[in-house]
Amino acid sequence: MKSFFTTAACIITLAFICVSCNSNSSESKQEVAVPKDSSGRKWWKEAVVYQIYPRSFKDSDGDGIGDLKGIISKLDYIKNLGVNAVWLNPIYTSPNDDNGYDVSDYRNIMKDFGTMEDFNALLKGMHERNIKLVMDIVVNHSSDEHEWFKQSRSSRTSPYRDYYHWWNADRGKPAYRYSLFDINHDAWRYDSLTNAYYLHYFSRKQPDLNWENPKLRQEIYSMLKFWADKGVDGFRLDAFGFAAKDTTFPAWPSGFEKDFMRYYAMGPHLHDYLKEMNAEVFSKYDVMTVAEGTGNTLQDAHNLVDADRNELNMAYPFEAVDIAKKEGYSLLHFKQVFTKWDSTFADKGWLAVFLANHDQARMVSRFGNDKPEFRDLSSKMLNTFILSMRGTPYCYNGDELAMTNAGFNKIEDYNDVATLNEYQHQKNIGGDLKKFMENVMFSCRDNGRTPFQWDSSNNAGFTTGKPWLKTNPNYKLINAASQENDANSCLNYFRKMIKLRKDNAVLVYGKYTLIDKDNPDVYAYTRELDGKKFLVLLNFTGKNAIVKTGLDLSKAKVLINNYAATSITESLKPYEAAVIEL
Ligand code: NOJ
Repeated sequence: MKSFFTTAACIITLAFICVSCNSNSSESKQEVAVPKDSSGRKWWKEAVVYQIYPRSFKDSDGDGIGDLKGIISKLDYIKNLGVNAVWLNPIYTSPNDDNGYDVSDYRNIMKDFGTMEDFNALLKGMHERNIKLVMDIVVNHSSDEHEWFKQSRSSRTSPYRDYYHWWNADRGKPAYRYSLFDINHDAWRYDSLTNAYYLHYFSRKQPDLNWENPKLRQEIYSMLKFWADKGVDGFRLDAFGFAAKDTTFPAWPSGFEKDFMRYYAMGPHLHDYLKEMNAEVFSKYDVMTVAEGTGNTLQDAHNLVDADRNELNMAYPFEAVDIAKKEGYSLLHFKQVFTKWDSTFADKGWLAVFLANHDQARMVSRFGNDKPEFRDLSSKMLNTFILSMRGTPYCYNGDELAMTNAGFNKIEDYNDVATLNEYQHQKNIGGDLKKFMENVMFSCRDNGRTPFQWDSSNNAGFTTGKPWLKTNPNYKLINAASQENDANSCLNYFRKMIKLRKDNAVLVYGKYTLIDKDNPDVYAYTRELDGKKFLVLLNFTGKNAIVKTGLDLSKAKVLINNYAATSITESLKPYEAAVIEL
């Protein structure tokens, strides 16, 4: 599956897979009909995952960078959201070329974020509050400052040489490989020390690990066990779809990079690696595992996550998040994509449902409407959607407040390695930098990484120092403190919607049926389980809209409505959202 994030004129595509957890231990006491998939009920299917970008969440020591103590200080806030799992972006030692996605020590904590003692306290604090912790595992590549890479590059005969992909220059130049983050988009970097090229699908400081090497694989499994033994509850595998490679590095047709996912995702032996990882690690712990992407086809997705495959268990598909463009998007397309994924996974496998993460610009700016008159309504509508679909909802920090794109118009205000390198690339080739910046302002992932807006004090209460990335100037208006005591706030609506999901298994496991399919303005569907039937109505436009449900709504009970209406008709107000019991 794909994740795109646009940097300027080019769309960068990231492929990732979803990992599975092999937990058999959380069958519930309550009798609920579940999909035919033999895996049945699981805690991770019933969880609501809150994704925290640690660098931007809360700074405890005034250095301008979020940290673990900062997260600890906000555990009650997280608990009060009602979420029961947290996915933390990487917190390991890293030189931060790609904000922690370049790990130089997998068993230690990044200095900026704190210490292992802080981590232990965080995990304990989460568990005391019944919140599970999902770690981000970056093992398609490491940092070039990892000891393995330092050893590997030191000589052609180093025992670590085969931990990475090297091509000796005596053989000539290797066949072209596309790099997502390199200034020249060339994934082979020449290193004069041993007169050889190393492979890096991402930045030059992110050399790809060689999964063909069984020693490397054992190192990774042992590292996963290190964290599982500490008691973490899950793993999210970063970019793992890229891990398996044909190490003969054959030439690919010219222009392959325009469709590089076809070549990069689901390489040879990927399923073998996942089965091995499952047998060696996941099957031994009650952990949930999820990774990015689902390969190239729906069948790939099933092959990765169906319970009987013993690989992964939750597919994290990017097809839907990729359809939002600066010019807008078609709701018909959006509905078609979500409906296709749901029906493909109706009986087997399990899906993650999300509209944002740390690689995307803000949900309300991309899929809703961030103009003042519609921001709250459309944000509540989108959260109603995520939290009423079948699959495990993933909510990105700040989206509960309707945080918006900052849209900085100067390149100096950006930090993202992909954006900065692409800017340089466009400059080098004489590209249209004005157009590039227009795209960046709308879709750069730094829009989703500006500091969390806690209150109206300096820098949104995120830090007492200078924040590593500028705060969105709208923090005086949009912040958690001001929403806390407002019953109609986005924050309180989000809490209510989570409670509704947690109280009603129909929203987790119920059959999904799209209705009024060709309605270009309204997304309507029912969820059904054990004689219970809920109807979800979502007006995706800033005008009144009519929906034709074909259902008798006269006795319907409104369970939640973003206009606080207690009755419902087929005429919906702008961005109106409602969940109704029929
Ligand atoms: C996917 C991560 O989500 C993204 O943030 C990162 O830049 C790339 N993988 C490389 O690790």
